[in-house]
Amino acid sequence: MNFTEIAMNRQSCRRYDAEKPVEAEKLSAVLEATRLAPSACNGQPYHLTVCKGEKAKAVAEMTMGMGMNKFAADAPVVIVISEENYVASAALGAKVKGNDYRSIDIGIAAAYLTAAAAAEGLGTCILGWFDDGKIRELCGLDKPVRLVVTLGYAKQDDILRTKKRKALSELVTEME
Ligand SMILES: Cc1cc2nc3c(=O)[nH]c(=O)nc-3n(C[C@H](O)[C@H](O)[C@H](O)COP(=O)(O)O)c2cc1C
Repeated sequence: MNFTEIAMNRQSCRRYDAEKPVEAEKLSAVLEATRLAPSACNGQPYHLTVCKGEKAKAVAEMTMGMGMNKFAADAPVVIVISEENYVASAALGAKVKGNDYRSIDIGIAAAYLTAAAAAEGLGTCILGWFDDGKIRELCGLDKPVRLVVTLGYAKQDDILRTKKRKALSELVTEME
């Protein structure tokens, strides 16, 4: 798949085949692509905790508050993206420029992860709704959890939805 095909095929998967595990080599390929994501001052201020089996189930449970994200229970892999410290130059840049580079970096890493998974034929869903404290406890993390990503094969009858997005004319202004 070229990048446009990956972008067209990636969608948030909310129907996982709980019986179909993710092959170790596919998971490695996804993580390796995520490792290559760019970040401010190349600092990579995040950590990925890859949860499988009972740990995946326990973390998934912590994304289901108020009836949300029930589908996460079927995902064979759940990846927790937590903060790490800035490198000194990125910390200085963030302070001087008043920009939250760490959040940007985490978003880019999640984009790489989900695109790489799509290229491997895997489904993902980025979750921003979760219990930070409880996931930290479950995963032994001492820094904030910023995103949780479910990973697995979509059920066979899960269809590719039509993308709903803003029109380019609304999203883009061209200037010379
Ligand atoms: C930061 C972030 C948080 C999100 N949180 C959730 C979530 O908690 N539950 C969920 O089902 N989808 C969540 N999503 C998925 C979005 O709803 C989805 O990406 C968007 O509607 C576009 O649909 P698509 O991913 O299928 O193209 C999140 C996406 C992002 C980027």
